[in-house]
Amino acid sequence: MAKINTVYLCQNCGHSAAKWLGKCPSCGQWNTFVEEYVTKESKSKPLLPSSTKAIPLKEVVSSETQRYVTKDHELNRVLGGGIVPGSLVLIGGEPGIGKSTLMLQAAIQMTGVKVLYISGEESESQIKLRAERISGENPECYICTEVKTQAIVHLAKELRPSLVVIDSIQTLRNEYIESAPGSVSQIRECTSDLMRFAKDENIPVFLIGHITKDGSIAGPKILEHMVDTVLQFEGDRHNTYRILRTIKNRFGSTSEIGIYEMQGTGLRQVSNPSEILISQRDEQVSGISISSALEGLRPLLIETQALVSSAVYGTPQRTANGYDGKRLNMLLAVLEKKCGFRLAVQDVFVNIAGGLRIDDPGIDLGIVSAILSSYHDIPLSDKAVFVGEVGLSGEIRSISRAEQRINEASKLGYEDIYISKSSLSGLNLKKLPIRVHAVSRMDEFFSLVFG
Ligand code: TYD
Ligand code: MG
Repeated sequence: MAKINTVYLCQNCGHSAAKWLGKCPSCGQWNTFVEEYVTKESKSKPLLPSSTKAIPLKEVVSSETQRYVTKDHELNRVLGGGIVPGSLVLIGGEPGIGKSTLMLQAAIQMTGVKVLYISGEESESQIKLRAERISGENPECYICTEVKTQAIVHLAKELRPSLVVIDSIQTLRNEYIESAPGSVSQIRECTSDLMRFAKDENIPVFLIGHITKDGSIAGPKILEHMVDTVLQFEGDRHNTYRILRTIKNRFGSTSEIGIYEMQGTGLRQVSNPSEILISQRDEQVSGISISSALEGLRPLLIETQALVSSAVYGTPQRTANGYDGKRLNMLLAVLEKKCGFRLAVQDVFVNIAGGLRIDDPGIDLGIVSAILSSYHDIPLSDKAVFVGEVGLSGEIRSISRAEQRINEASKLGYEDIYISKSSLSGLNLKKLPIRVHAVSRMDEFFSLVFG
């Protein structure tokens, strides 16, 4: 009989303690300690065989050339160019957002690749039902509803697929651990079993993980340290657009996003996001401006809507959706103090259309234009783009990747771009069919646009 030890583990960060604690000394969360059983044996399992030896770095074969490029270009992009053999990828997201759909779709749209899809959440017939809604038929997509990691590893070693998908890590169970599935020690052990499998066999493994209400992957943070790549699938449940974001990537950039639209027949890749983010307008309305924001290396054209109306209560309301509320307050203060607009007695509402959240300060000028357009009730041209960061003294500061943003706007048929002067130095813009208006101060910008 293996000796059974019990420890108290913080369900948030994985901190272990010999006795129960009210507050976790590591992450500061309250009431997160749960007693869990660990057996001595499982802890002492060697991770590497005893014949471990070191090899010179230059003799190591780079796996870059062996990346498997899937049909899903958005997925390829967030992974840094395709699936790296032997990598362990975690896909997190709220329940119902579409993680299972995303992975099943990727699995059945592959051709000539053997995929093993393990589901601990749905039965075979339920998976079949879902697969029937999605187009694509991979004759080598194998389904299994197993939850024991030892059995999964055994099965995968026999089947030798080129990709393993686990739906979800919270349902897996290592038989040597007494704790319930989804607990810290189970998640940790199961992930380490799968990591060992992925590295030893050089087979990529995708883990699906649920996210708790506060946005962290349920179970410990420790999971994020163990895997090579962490992707987050997010979006508004009431909106059909979904964003796949890289949180951590050992094999690529972490600033990439992939955009999908959830349809009745699965997820559709959105290769030109600007089209979906900008609504088609038949008539000119005030309070709408188009701006260009960088997400990863891609410039996205986004629509900002603003509504300025007289405040009914003493303290005016300021609400920002998809944009930092503190930054909105700052922009309003600049407009008030440096440009003389009387916004202190107005309610201001700002919304980034399409359910996106933008942190790029380059859209400041777009936000300011939408606010002023609503305030003066003057519609802006729907063929104009506004890009620039607004500084505290009312200056328009330079932004990164000006050339890409201008090219993108020009490619999509926009006729004018208002952009900070200082970001244009060294650019040759003569040949482009778009008119570039360089602006350096808010007052100059205002008289140029609103006359
Ligand atoms: P699902 O992949 O089960 O979410 P998760 O695994 O993240 O919990 O997706 C569930 C939602 O997706 C569900 O509300 C139905 C919807 N859906 C579609 O709209 N179209 C489809 O083709 C499929 C398969 C699902
Ligand atoms: Mg699911």
